[in-house]
Amino acid sequence: MPDLIKKTIIRSDLCPRIYMYDTVDSTNNVATQLIEEKNQIGFVVVAKKQYAASGQAGRDWESPKGGLWTSLVIQPQIKFSQLGLVPILSAVGIAKALDTFKIKTLLKWPNDILIKHNLKKIGGILVEGKITQFSLNYLIIGIGLNINNTLDQYSKLLREQITTVYEEFSKKIDLNCLLQEIIHQLEDSFECLRLSGSQSILKEWKEKDNIIGMKVIVQTPEGEYQGKVVDISPNGQLVLENSGSNIVNLSTGTVFIQDINK
Ligand code: BTN
Repeated sequence: MPDLIKKTIIRSDLCPRIYMYDTVDSTNNVATQLIEEKNQIGFVVVAKKQYAASGQAGRDWESPKGGLWTSLVIQPQIKFSQLGLVPILSAVGIAKALDTFKIKTLLKWPNDILIKHNLKKIGGILVEGKITQFSLNYLIIGIGLNINNTLDQYSKLLREQITTVYEEFSKKIDLNCLLQEIIHQLEDSFECLRLSGSQSILKEWKEKDNIIGMKVIVQTPEGEYQGKVVDISPNGQLVLENSGSNIVNLSTGTVFIQDINK
């Protein structure tokens, strides 16, 4: 285990404890180790740097100092059928938290956070979990946000595809305040999902969605799909209409926009 800098209590029902580290391989990995070691759920892991972090579809995730690299370990009261909404709800919560710092973002299914004015990626989400036949043991919501970083901290290849809040707005954000705001937003969203279903979360997603109406290619573990995005389903799937006017629902995948003229 890496050296723990601080263990502290925060005002949160969802994840009341927080473990802070200087450098870890991946906050999702440390979260998994802590679940085993402490036999507990309901905490946050945060690190200043990660050296072996994972992104979607097995990609590496560069995490230099200045970003928010965190994993929330929770056991939400949701139905199995609602699991696909977790990345959606998390992305909406992060966008709302960034709004409070006047950082305007758009969302790309299932979990990309983009800067509104140039559609460059500033963050993503990696949800992992332990689910048995009968119950949801826990979820790890891994969140990576390029915040106070400069682009020269990233590899040359990545610099062309991403950006950071600092590069776009020339201002630095208090990472602790941002994390606290994200946790509160997620708490509210899970409560809203539990009490009244997915409708209002999907409404909020659609207000910030960047791909509905566009022609896209989606790479999934089962193969490639091409079509027009027509909706996000009530359980968080991407709804595509292909050239034969057939509707395909996709649970996961990487979206590449083909035609930006909606
Ligand atoms: C993506 O590919 O868009 C998802 C990236 C998720 C990265 C975060 S950083 C904190 C947590 N730890 C990891 O190893 N991954 C996630």
